[in-house]
Amino acid sequence: MEESTTRLPLIGDPAPAFKAVTTQGPINFPEDYKGKWVILFSHPADFTPVCTTEFMTFATMEEDFRSLNTELIGLSIDSLYAHIAWLRTIKEKIEFNGMKGVEVNFPLIEDLRMDVAKLYGMVQPSASTTQAVRAVFIIDPKGIVRTIMYYPASTGRNMEEIKRVILALQKADKEAIATPANWQPGDDVIIPPPGSCGAAKDRVEQAGDDTYCLDWFLCFRREKK
Ligand code: BEZ
Repeated sequence: MEESTTRLPLIGDPAPAFKAVTTQGPINFPEDYKGKWVILFSHPADFTPVCTTEFMTFATMEEDFRSLNTELIGLSIDSLYAHIAWLRTIKEKIEFNGMKGVEVNFPLIEDLRMDVAKLYGMVQPSASTTQAVRAVFIIDPKGIVRTIMYYPASTGRNMEEIKRVILALQKADKEAIATPANWQPGDDVIIPPPGSCGAAKDRVEQAGDDTYCLDWFLCFRREKK
């Protein structure tokens, strides 16, 4: 008898498809998001403090992400009514880090049956069987998983870091380069390692105004500041 197995998505895999009810209406994922980058993220629960600060920060950056052709989708194992009540409370009552009256306009998935959370490995039973961990999946315009991040419940995510990863992925795709540790937009980028001894020699010898090498395997392209 054939056994059916479920494997969690890994980097390079197609993002598992699902249909879900959200605070912005039903979504059919990834079909509805073709041609866009997506940040699909889970949080442990509505009406919890760290999650509240994360939602306010993400919501404030929504236009910033949209300018990078990137959409946000949140998820927790709560009902649609809990989501609506929590988002209303955030808008009406919560002031944090200079943010006030924050409206969350991106979809927040209702996942009471944990269908989507289980599909994406967002429930990690040693941490909790009833709440998702803080997972982040960055999915590209072709529906491929490009980045996976997991954080514990007690640590709020750094949204600027998530944005930095989107910028780095977009630049790597467009320019066939890689980005060094702590790269920020405008910093020099890494040229992929050479594929032959001849190419390695040529590259070191030909380094000039636009490129420089620290060794044959570590060459940079200067970015115009
Ligand atoms: C929070 O968002 O504050 C939180 C959620 C679950 C466990 C711990 C903290």
